[in-house]
Amino acid sequence: MSETNAARHGIGIVGAGVIGAVHAEAVGLVPGATLAAVTDVDPGRAKALAATWDCAAEPDLASLLARDDIDVVLVCVPSGRHAEVGIQAAGAGKHLVVEKPIEVTLAAADRLIAAARANNVLVTVISQHRFDAGLDELRRLLDGAALGPLLLGEASTKWYRTQDYYDSAAWRGTWELDGGSLMNQGVHYLDLLLWAMGPAAEVTAICATQAHQVEVEDTTLALVRFASGAVGTVLSSTAAYPGFDQRLEITGTNGTVIVSNGAITRRALANDRLTEPAGVTPATAVTPATEPTAAANPAGIDPSSHAAQIADLLAAIDNGHQPAVTAESARATLQVICSVYESARTGRPVAVPQPGEEGAR
Ligand SMILES: NC(=O)c1ccc[n+]([C@@H]2O[C@H](COP(=O)([O-])OP(=O)(O)OC[C@H]3O[C@@H](n4cnc5c(N)ncnc54)[C@H](O)[C@@H]3O)[C@@H](O)[C@H]2O)c1
Repeated sequence: MSETNAARHGIGIVGAGVIGAVHAEAVGLVPGATLAAVTDVDPGRAKALAATWDCAAEPDLASLLARDDIDVVLVCVPSGRHAEVGIQAAGAGKHLVVEKPIEVTLAAADRLIAAARANNVLVTVISQHRFDAGLDELRRLLDGAALGPLLLGEASTKWYRTQDYYDSAAWRGTWELDGGSLMNQGVHYLDLLLWAMGPAAEVTAICATQAHQVEVEDTTLALVRFASGAVGTVLSSTAAYPGFDQRLEITGTNGTVIVSNGAITRRALANDRLTEPAGVTPATAVTPATEPTAAANPAGIDPSSHAAQIADLLAAIDNGHQPAVTAESARATLQVICSVYESARTGRPVAVPQPGEEGAR
């Protein structure tokens, strides 16, 4: 991230919990960004985070939004509160970085998107792994058609969360404010799968709650038919002790690329054999996965990819374009999650409404 010509932006964080702390650290890595204030419905949390990062602790959202040294608000509250907070912030003219998922229902996501449009503010929804180094490289390969027409895409999140994790806050593991393993944890690599493969047209899914006392699912399996005709799978679990790397595997007619925790760990493409001297393994054949990971530790998050996404929003504000991860693309990912849950509930394949089609659930 270059400092050159960076405008100054004042940042406010709403929600001083696990991810609010990651955002505070991430802001410190973004040229031109200053953390001005944090707030939380639990004032002790706001004060503790503010003391760590030497910024103000505002007593409530209205006070934070009233500050004219803040032009960007980072929404780090429970998922089912994203629209409520985001709509108020948009109404105060603040640009938004909203944590994933955009919301837990399409209706709430639509209210948030409408408020941002009405107030002419930009929104990005966190999908920090789109900014991991291996994903940049995969994007170049996809844009250069190095894999050929895509055939198969697989997204796997086999993570582990204890019962204590679910019991640590009343919102966790509830349909109203959280959603299950796919909505909370698997959403990251599902989003990457859609980013790589294009829109999903139909899903068939099974969900199960086996290893935790929660109302939501702790394991999801889904088959996907993409609009392109390609097929795929999505696996998400918080019951896979001790927690494994998140994986994205993309196969086209020319070969396969495997991403593990944000790094390309295997690349087997027909054209590599034509361009590399005999006996030489492609340079990206094995790359160590990055640490720390959230496979078993909810707080094990490297802030640098969050910083890259916050910087991307600031550049979008400065240059008058849309951010890399728009609210609309996050809504499309939520649409697939809702379709997966509907399929698991009904036991039937579910057609995923395409953008602009009726049938948003
Ligand atoms: N991108 C990632 O890797 C990642 C990782 C963890 C969590 N998240 C997301 O971040 C969000 C928060 O998760 P968390 O683990 O930090 O939760 P948390 O419970 O640790 O923190 C949430 C905080 O928000 C506060 N809060 C609740 N309602 C509020 C309101 N209306 N106004 C102000 N403060 C409010 C709570 O008091 C709490 O301190 C969720 O949407 C989650 O999906 C993203």
